[in-house]
Amino acid sequence: MNSMKKHPLRRKRTQILGSAEPLDMTLMEDSVGVGDLVLLEPLEEEPLLKNLQLRYENKEIYTYIGNVLISMNPYQQLPIYGPEFIAKYRDYTFYELKPHIYALANVAYQSLRDRDRDQCILITGESGAGKTEASKLVMSYVAAVCGKGEQVNSVKEQLLQSNPVLEAFGNAKTIRNNNSSRFGKYMDIEFDFKGSPLGGVITNYLLEKSRVVKQLEGERNFHIFYQLLAGADAHLLEALKLERDTSHYAYLNQKVSRVDGMDDASNFKSVQNAMTVIGFSEVEIQQVLEVTALVLKLGNVELADESQANGTSASGIRDGRGVQEIGEMIGLNSEELEKALCSRTMKTAKEEVVTTLNFTQAQYARDALAKNIYSRLFNWIVNRINESIKVGSGEKKKVMGVLDIYGFEILKDNSFEQFVINYCNEKLQQVFIEMTLKEEQEEYKREGIPWTKVDYFDNGIICNLIEHNQQGILAMLDEECLRPGVVSDSTFLAKLNQVFSKHGFYESKVTQNAQRQYDHTMGLSCFRICHYAGKVTYNVNGFIDKNNDLLFRDLSQAMWKAQHPLLQSLFPEGVPTQTSLKRPPTAGAQFKSSVAILMKNLYSKNPNYIRCIKPNEHQQRGQFSSELVAVQTRYLGLLENVRVRRAGYAYRQRYGPFLERYRLLGRSTWPRWNGGDREGVEKVLGELSLSSEELAFGKTKIFIRSPKTLFYLEEKRRLRLQQLATLIQKIYRGWRCRIHYQLMRKSQILISSWFRGNMQRKRYAKIKASVVLIQAFVRGWKARKDYRKYFRSGAALTLADFIYKSMTQKFLLGLRNNLPSTNILDRTWPAAPYRCFNTANQELQQLFYRWKCKRFRDRLSPKQVEILKEKLCASELFKGKKASYPQSVPIPFCGDYLGLQGNPKLQKLKGGEEGPVLMADTVKKVNRGNGKTSSRILLLTKGHVILIDTKKSQAKTVIGLDSVAEVSVTSFKDGLFSLHLNEISSVGSRGDFLLVSEHVIELLTKMYQAVLDATQRQLLISVTEKFSVRFKESSVAVKVIQGPEGDRNGKLKCKKKGSRCLEVTV
Ligand SMILES: Nc1ncnc2c1ncn2[C@@H]1O[C@H](COP(=O)(O)OP(=O)(O)O)[C@@H](O)[C@H]1O
Ligand SMILES: [Mg+2]
Repeated sequence: MNSMKKHPLRRKRTQILGSAEPLDMTLMEDSVGVGDLVLLEPLEEEPLLKNLQLRYENKEIYTYIGNVLISMNPYQQLPIYGPEFIAKYRDYTFYELKPHIYALANVAYQSLRDRDRDQCILITGESGAGKTEASKLVMSYVAAVCGKGEQVNSVKEQLLQSNPVLEAFGNAKTIRNNNSSRFGKYMDIEFDFKGSPLGGVITNYLLEKSRVVKQLEGERNFHIFYQLLAGADAHLLEALKLERDTSHYAYLNQKVSRVDGMDDASNFKSVQNAMTVIGFSEVEIQQVLEVTALVLKLGNVELADESQANGTSASGIRDGRGVQEIGEMIGLNSEELEKALCSRTMKTAKEEVVTTLNFTQAQYARDALAKNIYSRLFNWIVNRINESIKVGSGEKKKVMGVLDIYGFEILKDNSFEQFVINYCNEKLQQVFIEMTLKEEQEEYKREGIPWTKVDYFDNGIICNLIEHNQQGILAMLDEECLRPGVVSDSTFLAKLNQVFSKHGFYESKVTQNAQRQYDHTMGLSCFRICHYAGKVTYNVNGFIDKNNDLLFRDLSQAMWKAQHPLLQSLFPEGVPTQTSLKRPPTAGAQFKSSVAILMKNLYSKNPNYIRCIKPNEHQQRGQFSSELVAVQTRYLGLLENVRVRRAGYAYRQRYGPFLERYRLLGRSTWPRWNGGDREGVEKVLGELSLSSEELAFGKTKIFIRSPKTLFYLEEKRRLRLQQLATLIQKIYRGWRCRIHYQLMRKSQILISSWFRGNMQRKRYAKIKASVVLIQAFVRGWKARKDYRKYFRSGAALTLADFIYKSMTQKFLLGLRNNLPSTNILDRTWPAAPYRCFNTANQELQQLFYRWKCKRFRDRLSPKQVEILKEKLCASELFKGKKASYPQSVPIPFCGDYLGLQGNPKLQKLKGGEEGPVLMADTVKKVNRGNGKTSSRILLLTKGHVILIDTKKSQAKTVIGLDSVAEVSVTSFKDGLFSLHLNEISSVGSRGDFLLVSEHVIELLTKMYQAVLDATQRQLLISVTEKFSVRFKESSVAVKVIQGPEGDRNGKLKCKKKGSRCLEVTV
């Protein structure tokens, strides 16, 4: 997905792939010559070389043959590497950009990561052709594109840092290459399922250890020696007992100590640093350097010929100091070392024989020791690195192998090393042939694809010549080494000559002679093999020794005895107790078996080829030597490669896996396909309407002619995967959103239902409250309406009551404070403040008055009471009846108007028995006969009325009160009254009396009381104007008339009207 970022070129690619055709055109547009030799026309050697040259001269060092990369060494830094280019190539498929090693690395890595196929990258080519550089580029590309992360980065770092260390110890300047790998290296980088590196395993092949003691002219020993001397600080040098000057050391070539453009000192620092990164401890680094120094110092151990007089040759150390120093450094007795160097212990079944070594033998022994120490140190370093980058066995791994092995070598003088190296290259060529040319063509046949065979050189016969178990050169070499008897290189050669006299690829002086050929280049001690890459003449000298690779036991035992842990561990066979006499496998056999393992390993992986070509022998930029390149193209079989490639199919796959991978591109095959695999594949490809030329249906496999079709399919698949991923994402997201939405909706509904419910409840409560309120109001209003009248009247009443009460209160309190005087005669009374109190006021006035009266009465003396009783009686009798009454009221009843007390005469008149006189007054007696009046004194006692004639003082009339029946008076102011007497009484017989008194009221009142007291009878007093008065036996009617007022001052006039009527005018 990451690589899907928008990129202008990416769009271009999709367009290109949309229509399968214009790809080639775009590819060709800005390319020089043809980028892929498959497109070369005509397909001949010359145009091929021309094309390569043209491209090389235009700095296009990479060219394809299908998926095989041809790389020409530019001998200059080209600006086509680095992160920018890595990023570019990682985003594009193989054919979209210019040919590049990154494109090949990308294909390999993606195939490993995405298709789970183990990969191997086979880098072949002559020494100096650029193999090691290519392997480093591949590794750096993979490191850049594979996963990231702290751990991954440290693994990457360790893998990458293994290079400088191995190069320091395993590379050297040769004539052909300033940095030539002097060992073969195969590195398995292991990845996890995601494509992140986990670690790796490095296998090294046959270090060229002879270089340790001797180098060709113009060459150097391994870089590390120079680096150590140049880069180590003084302190370290002193510790290692070394001197900086390389010329001090016999093993270092005196002529060449520096290489142009190579800074040994700074490289030394890098190596130290790299070792630390990989995980070497300080002590380990120190020990490695000590062993390295030991090798240098061994070279300086000078030996002397000490042949004895008896003819036995012997040797000795010329200068003991060197050995002494070595002994000190490795913790070994110098004598012991000297002994090991100069003598040899032969062990037979029964006894041990010590023989001295002659000078040559001693030198040989010393050099052998140095070579062994160094090569074992190298192996140890490789193992140590492996230990650091090792991957746990439990993890499932994908593997990418990178093979950078020494290239085919044809030197002037070729020895065992070249023989072995070339054998290895021969094998690699065989892999190439097997996997590209042979296997491919055979497969077409097997699968029944129409095919015209392309001829190619099959180097199987050469491989056989070398490695055949019985009849191979290596087998014969081993046989010679093991054979008892006199064994030498020449016996070996003789044997070869004998066995291979008829072999087409083997030549020697002998076989040449037999064929009558005369070749001066062929020495007597030489044999020649016609390798796929050319004829190589090998000198057999040293073959036996080198194959034996023997180190005298004394030396290994001495090394084991050293107190140096690393050195000791390098010589495990030196343990004295280990007495096995079994020979270790020979160098040739070892190499053969490791090559066999390598081959097996390579066959199990998907190969990716980088074929490095060296454009010139002089390491010169821009120089293109056609002959040199022609040789290389020939032996690399490039032309055949192109032919097969052109005729053949770039890609094949079993129907099953193919269908599985691409069935998602077909409508009918996706998502389910029930038919057979082949039908399915036909369906898918049919639906994609690919041109029929592009496809071939084999028996079990589908063949696709051009890579671009495959890339087209891959791109389609990639897009389809994205589509499907999008679809899944879409559906998943849709589902997730739906679920989320539903949940939200549910929640929302729940919330809103609660909210609404709550709101409605609140509203309802509010409405209810309002309704109740309104109802209450309405009801109240109605009730008030109904009851208003009651309310009002009541209110009025209450108010009125209240007001009234308060008014009353005010009134009464006011009254209390303002009471009028208690004088009984004071009738004043305040008026009522309000009319409503009138009655009450009157009542109160009355009450007050009565109270005043009562008080007044209560204060009266009994006498006053008597007087007032009389007055009361008078009032009862006369009030309102008699006009003179009012005048009588204020005048007290004095009773005695005559002064009776002081007049004893009068006292006498009343008689004795009568008790006190109630009334004594002068009255007039009207004569009934004539109406004339005469004065009389009237005394009233308790039982009598006594009339006494004033003149005759004793003449008197006594009238018993019991005989007074009635009294008549007028209603006028006069004093006239009549005493009506009972007829039967004695007095009565004289008739009634008509009298006038000035105090008529008093008189009559007293008389009334006296009668009442005396007789318990109420005297009848009638108020009338007409009454009759009995007179003797007759009665006179008296008529009283009211005369004019004030006329006569109380005097009345009586006029007799007839006998029987008397008219009184008053
Ligand atoms: N791609 C390249 N770019 C620049 N220089 C290169 C390249 N490949 C090789 N060289 C140069 O060629 C020299 C030899 O290359 P190297 O890989 O060591 O050869 P080989 O391993 O095949 O012997 C390198 O030291 C380097 O200077
Ligand atoms: Mg190399």
